[in-house]
Amino acid sequence: MDEFHWIRVEAEGRLFTLKSKNTEYQIWADPHGLLNHLYWGKAVSQDLRGRLRKMDRGFSGNLYETAEDRGYSVDTLPMEYPVGGAGDYRTPALRLALADGSRSADLRFAGYRLIRGRESLKGLPYVRAGEETETLEIGLRDVAGAFSVLLRYSVWPEEDAVIRSAEIINDGSAPLILEKAASAALDGLRGPNSLLHFHGRHAAERTPERLPVPHGNLALGSQRGMSSHHENPFVILCGEETGEDAGECWGSMLVYSGNHLEEAGLDQANSLRFVTGIHPTGFSWHLAPGERFQTPETILIFSDAGFNGLSGRYHRLLNRYVLPENPMGHPVLLNSWEACYFNFDAEKILALAEEAKGLGMDLLVLDDGWFGRRESDNSSLGDWKTNEEKLGCSLRELSERIHEKGLKFGLWVEPEMISENSDLFRAHPEWAIREPGRAPIIGRQQLVLDMANPQVVDYLFDTLSALVDEGKMEYIKWDFNRSVCNWYSHALPADRQGEAPHRFMLGTYDLLFRLREKYPALLIEGCSGGGGRFDAGMLFFSPQIWCSDNTDPIDRLTIQKGTSYGYPIRSMGAHVSASPNHQSGRTTPLRARGAVAMAGTFGYELDPGKLSAEEKEEIKAQIAAYREQTDLIDRGSYYRLTLREGAFGWMLVSPERDEARVTVVCREPEANGRFLYARLRGLDPERVYREESMGLLWTGAALMYAGVTLPEPMGDYPVYTLHLRAEE
Ligand code: DGJ
Repeated sequence: MDEFHWIRVEAEGRLFTLKSKNTEYQIWADPHGLLNHLYWGKAVSQDLRGRLRKMDRGFSGNLYETAEDRGYSVDTLPMEYPVGGAGDYRTPALRLALADGSRSADLRFAGYRLIRGRESLKGLPYVRAGEETETLEIGLRDVAGAFSVLLRYSVWPEEDAVIRSAEIINDGSAPLILEKAASAALDGLRGPNSLLHFHGRHAAERTPERLPVPHGNLALGSQRGMSSHHENPFVILCGEETGEDAGECWGSMLVYSGNHLEEAGLDQANSLRFVTGIHPTGFSWHLAPGERFQTPETILIFSDAGFNGLSGRYHRLLNRYVLPENPMGHPVLLNSWEACYFNFDAEKILALAEEAKGLGMDLLVLDDGWFGRRESDNSSLGDWKTNEEKLGCSLRELSERIHEKGLKFGLWVEPEMISENSDLFRAHPEWAIREPGRAPIIGRQQLVLDMANPQVVDYLFDTLSALVDEGKMEYIKWDFNRSVCNWYSHALPADRQGEAPHRFMLGTYDLLFRLREKYPALLIEGCSGGGGRFDAGMLFFSPQIWCSDNTDPIDRLTIQKGTSYGYPIRSMGAHVSASPNHQSGRTTPLRARGAVAMAGTFGYELDPGKLSAEEKEEIKAQIAAYREQTDLIDRGSYYRLTLREGAFGWMLVSPERDEARVTVVCREPEANGRFLYARLRGLDPERVYREESMGLLWTGAALMYAGVTLPEPMGDYPVYTLHLRAEE
């Protein structure tokens, strides 16, 4: 047995158990060399090979050398990285075409390697190694010698996380074409029968929906060139009975921002297979002899403490090992978008800055409209030069005047886009993604730049660097405002066009890697028409992402709740905007808007000059209240509370469990209705907590198991906040 703490290797180097604090993941290379998935779930401390049952099922073929063992079939065994075309009729992880035109392969165990820590993935975002991280690499080789696969598993024991990816290596003598190369497959799962996914649309992202996993194949994903508003690359497999605070959950979160697919189905023996990775539709990748293809990685986390238990582990892992440090800590910002849209000049922006400073904010963000000849959204993307005529001064001067006020300064950009009406398009029409001889599909009156072309990436690197330098910028908001289609790269030959979507993402990541390296103190806030690219891939570069273009606090309750299943609140861009809300027309009290935005990165998106003196005082108080809870956001645990229909609640608890803050917001009051009853979470049952506003001095046990009754909600969107402190 090797001397690794979290990875156990037994049975002469063929049985592998990845342990974490509470879980185990077990794999076995059987005597024929097929790599079987044995188990993933709560720790069992048991060799589980005996769990595999063979059964002669007609129509499930047998390997040539096991022809007489009619129960031995790749169609019924739980496969760790299933390959299509050779008798396993369930959804594969890998599909490819060999040089002779054949389309099947047969992968057998070729060896393993253990590594302390982990190696980073080249060109892709990844989860950084923790102190205790250990890695297992398993090599598989095609029996005909056409290629090999390297499966990587790294363990983060404290977070109960196993991070998986695959590398396809052409170590044969002929080229091959990959048609599907998933990051991971899970097979033979017996616990889960449902899947919770997060679907939506622009301004209504990450709505949770729970589906039964059917016999056959349930396929969810995005082919939009972005992880998308419509389907997040994070899903949770769970049992029927799993709820917020109890039950088993198996989560998968891709560290990827492009086209993705999540598939789940029950096979003929009622066991569940799950496959996730780059979406294979429109994907094909030439792999010449000697070349390798690295898939993005997926973060697998198990919890038997319900969705809250699972979310806590994802939050902790992302906070510690994915998000970069926020160079400004928790900047409270004022963004110009909903304050003025395209109608501003330098004086207007400076007036906003003056107000922002007076209210105690840290950062002024000049949103869309400052460059080229951009007076609406139909021109100038790509021309990242200040419109001095419109502003009335240079970017340098504006920036200096904002800095003089003691504020930091940030700018909106949309690097991967190009307007047809732009100098850049006139100079380089071949840089836009469009197919030869066809009019392109237009989205928001714009085209998409070909990020698969290194010249485009270089151009953007130089242009963005010049901007950051000129404006001495501390922040940029990186937007992406349309779905991609007409995939075609003029930088690639005709037979390699299937590589364009993934090369697009590699180009974007390359640009982000280079900018982060050059400007480590620059805060990049991700954005894509709100939260269309809210994923762990972008979070690797930008510790915060604008959560949604919908700033209506009541709609945001659902959007932010859905987002919180996988992503920490430290990453969720959330602003207080004007009322009535610009997207929904709904009128809400400032208190409700503040309470909801405080469960995010917190900032404002309105013209403070239009507010009353009382409102300004309230904003100052909100900012002070937010600053008081940033430590809890950074270090604490977040829990969703289960309340009556129409009421949303959440709480933050310090790691020492000596402090907690509870927020409850009601979507609608109920006349003479039920009281609001809240069972709190995450407290120490033994300790006594004091809550001043309600005059409580109760044990954690009472607060969690009996729960508190809040006053009956009255009026428009009432908010309750509780601040609990443990008695010494
Ligand atoms: C979409 C973003 O989500 C908005 O916040 C704003 O930046 C606009 N784009 C600007 O065009």
